[in-house]
Amino acid sequence: MSKQFDVVVIGGGPGGYIAAIRAAQLGFQVACIDEWKNAAGGPAPGGTCTNVGCIPSKALLQSSEHFEHANHHFAEHGITAKDVKMDVAKMIARKDNVVKQNNDGILYLFKKNKVTFFHGRGSFAGQAEGGYTIHVAGKTEEAITAKQVIIATGSNARALPGTPFDEVNVLSNDGALRVGAVPKKLALIGSGVIGLEMGSVWRRLGADVTILEGLPTFLGAVDEQIAKEAKKAFDKQGLKIELGVKVGEIVNGKKGVTVNYTNAKGEAIVLDADKLIVSIGRVPNTIGLNAEAIGLQLDERGAIVVDGDCKTNLPGVWAVGDVVRGPMLAHKAEEEGVAVAERIAGQHGHVNFNTIPWVIYTSPEIAWVGRTEQQLKADGVAYKAGTFPFLANGRARALGDTTGMVKFLADATTDEILGVHMVGPQVSELISEAVVAMEFRASAEDIARICHAHPSLSEATKEAALAVDKRTLNF
Ligand code: FAD
Ligand code: NAI
Repeated sequence: MSKQFDVVVIGGGPGGYIAAIRAAQLGFQVACIDEWKNAAGGPAPGGTCTNVGCIPSKALLQSSEHFEHANHHFAEHGITAKDVKMDVAKMIARKDNVVKQNNDGILYLFKKNKVTFFHGRGSFAGQAEGGYTIHVAGKTEEAITAKQVIIATGSNARALPGTPFDEVNVLSNDGALRVGAVPKKLALIGSGVIGLEMGSVWRRLGADVTILEGLPTFLGAVDEQIAKEAKKAFDKQGLKIELGVKVGEIVNGKKGVTVNYTNAKGEAIVLDADKLIVSIGRVPNTIGLNAEAIGLQLDERGAIVVDGDCKTNLPGVWAVGDVVRGPMLAHKAEEEGVAVAERIAGQHGHVNFNTIPWVIYTSPEIAWVGRTEQQLKADGVAYKAGTFPFLANGRARALGDTTGMVKFLADATTDEILGVHMVGPQVSELISEAVVAMEFRASAEDIARICHAHPSLSEATKEAALAVDKRTLNF
């Protein structure tokens, strides 16, 4: 007889493991199936985010930033650091350890919340009485059943047609996070989030980095003023970003990779690199799910079709995270996971797609929530804008990083905050205040009247809110 659960979650990334925990908190018997293996073949829950995404990339960004500071910024503080060397193997081992701590943390949370964990691949075997049978193929094989199934199978890196990832020379995010030595020349295709974060890591460590971007605009989804400011900073750092290119033949040879492309002026260029990272977006992953067995509807991109509540076309089958529409972000997946568990319990789980923050963890960091100036113009919304530069912020000066600004966009009539955009130091943390404000439908005036600690970077947020009404105090 197959084991029966109230809720089975397929996929143990941020969407899946959080959904499993929330469903268990709500009193359900829950199982979570995840197939990710660590180097020893053991379970490594946490999905892309924990294993080859958010967490390891931030570990490498931190290590490489320390290296950059030791080499270029310590001197201005009066610190002499001679012969600064980077032991790449040690940096990667540290990153692996950070990942393992997160994997172990999730296994602990499953135990604590009495979620039954299955290490293996889950696939639909068919409909069972009032629910679904799921086949689990791990070290052993078994079948489990549940009335409610949450699919959280994530996404995979998109390869360029004709150029498969070998993770030796042609790297996806996976290979990009475990390069054994600093490449002399690194090429990246796609100047999106991964291109900028990974390009930054290896540039800081000494690689000559060229990022080739197909679109003529840099970071098109970001507020134009913020993107321009970020581009200026990246140019100054020596991160070469070529916009409007057309990538042609790619030759993966013994010694490295040759990328043939046409630049924006129409010139044919040959770029030789030791390694190539392809970061041109990700595709939803339903491989091995056997969606056909139950008639689960997918769209033309391979994403599972869901409504606003994450319901699929089948009763009792839900899908969350990267495998469905919407931004591919860990916190979006988590919010959907929680909301679905609550809906299963008859509650009114809700995700506010208008207040999902974005962060790009480069230096300077880029963060935003809500609409950009170009979106407001396109939507015909009358707005007021206020900006405040970190150059005029005391804490930023003390830190030695005055790049960038905070920008507020507020409704011209009601003063309601419509978007907040930041580029600068630690804006990944500062953006939360803007998210809270927007969630509570605050006005720019509300933020302007709140006492912010001095000296703090958050004062730039208050000042940008004051700037909406043209009454900054420190600029
Ligand atoms: P995933 O995390 O992909 O998890 C899916 C899990 O399901 C995997 O463990 C997979 O093995 C498992 N699985 C799939 N099919 C089956 C099956 N049939 N049976 C059993 N298990 C299965 N987002 C952010 O918000 N912040 C960041 O800083 C950030 N950095 C990133 C950096 C990189 C390099 C990358 C690639 C992504 C980054 N992301 C970041 C995006 C983030 O990783 C994803 O949005 C997030 O992981 C999606 O969560 P998920 O649960 O939907 O899927
Ligand atoms: P992306 O969508 O951010 O960027 C892809 C870029 O590649 C785009 O600028 C696109 O125009 C370009 N491109 C596409 N095809 C191309 C081609 N043939 N030639 C040249 N350029 C081409 O995707 P990316 O960087 O792969 O990341 C995937 C997703 O992972 C992100 O969208 C994001 O959702 C998530 N992520 C989030 C992070 C964060 O929150 N800090 C960090 C890293 C990834």
